[in-house]
Amino acid sequence: MERLDIDLGARSYPILIGPGLLGDAALLSQSIRARDLMLVSNVTVAPLWGPRLRAGLAGLRLAECILPDGEAHKTLATASRVLDALVEARLNRDCAVLALGGGVVGDIAGFAAACYQRGVDFVQLPTTLLAQVDSSVGGKTGVDHPGGKNLIGAFHQPVAVIADTDTLGTLPDRELAAGIAEVIKYGLVGDGDFLSWIESNLDRLLARDPGALVHAIRRSCECKAAIVSRDELEQGERALLNLGHTFGHAIETGAGYGHWLHGEAVAAGMAMAAEMSRRLGWLGAADVARVRELLGRAGLPVDPPRFGRERMLGLMRMDKKVKAGRIRLVLLERLGRAICTADYPDEALEQMLDDLVGGADA
Ligand code: NAD
Ligand code: GLY
Repeated sequence: MERLDIDLGARSYPILIGPGLLGDAALLSQSIRARDLMLVSNVTVAPLWGPRLRAGLAGLRLAECILPDGEAHKTLATASRVLDALVEARLNRDCAVLALGGGVVGDIAGFAAACYQRGVDFVQLPTTLLAQVDSSVGGKTGVDHPGGKNLIGAFHQPVAVIADTDTLGTLPDRELAAGIAEVIKYGLVGDGDFLSWIESNLDRLLARDPGALVHAIRRSCECKAAIVSRDELEQGERALLNLGHTFGHAIETGAGYGHWLHGEAVAAGMAMAAEMSRRLGWLGAADVARVRELLGRAGLPVDPPRFGRERMLGLMRMDKKVKAGRIRLVLLERLGRAICTADYPDEALEQMLDDLVGGADA
């Protein structure tokens, strides 16, 4: 088992990565302080991985709330169902909410845990690659609004992240690729050597080679842990982890939640960020081609839908990084070094959107 720690003072917690962890009673009982538990999962994951977890938790008081599957259900109404279940089970402030599933279950369950009795313990048990490398770490929780992704939420750190890598064995190929998009993001944002490693080992990742997956998860979590430890509440540097997300969230919202997977939208968004960086003179054409080739080899989309420029800009203006009405973009000074900036000519963004998503009246 691999272990690393998120250093946040009193809110520090371990990230545990390896096979068989969901059934490891000793590890679970050390990591979960509470004895009254609410398991939150969904109709797809609970039948697959619930039995292993229940065996690992034998002897503890366990209530369950099983949600419908899909991004379209990442709503305030679904979070409310979790809150209702906590009340019905008469759980007190010393309970813990366990999130068994991908980023959707983790974001909803974490938000409910942040709200219930003003905050109860929360344990992330991520079962998708995307959740193991990104969404389970760092304490962002929340739900979508029809007007924008993740607009309703709270920072609420888990007390532990337990990533059982066996769970990736049942993940559909399209979901695996969506997780690889976020792995590629870490290389692009801050680690050129990791980017080269991904390029050399992509076929092993796609073939679910356990050693390659554990390395990718560990390195991704290290990159995220370092940034979150320095900037927990996204006052600055943490925004870099949003590479591809201003464009990507606009794609997810505009297409209707669930049509584009989050990782797919981030992939197309990262290709757009690379193109914008080229237009500002920071990347060369060969760099952009390298980004597009890697994403394409992973089976990810690199071109956005043809929403038209004005609709795309309207969606992008709901981004949480907007300040004083100005869209801030995460761009690439070079491959392996991102910056967040509002300092770009509007015409450059408009021209790029005209070219990639269609003109004003597309
Ligand atoms: P997801 O939670 O929808 O899971 C993808 C699909 O795989 C679902 O159908 C799910 O039921 C299924 N699944 C999960 N684990 C499985 C397994 N082991 N075997 C078979 N099927 C399995 O999607 P996701 O990609 O994990 O997460 C995307 C969400 O995460 C988005 O809502 C995004 O906004 C959010 N996110 C949050 C953060 C954060 O910091 N909180 C970061 C990145 C993404
Ligand atoms: N996924 C971006 C973040 O956690 O900050």
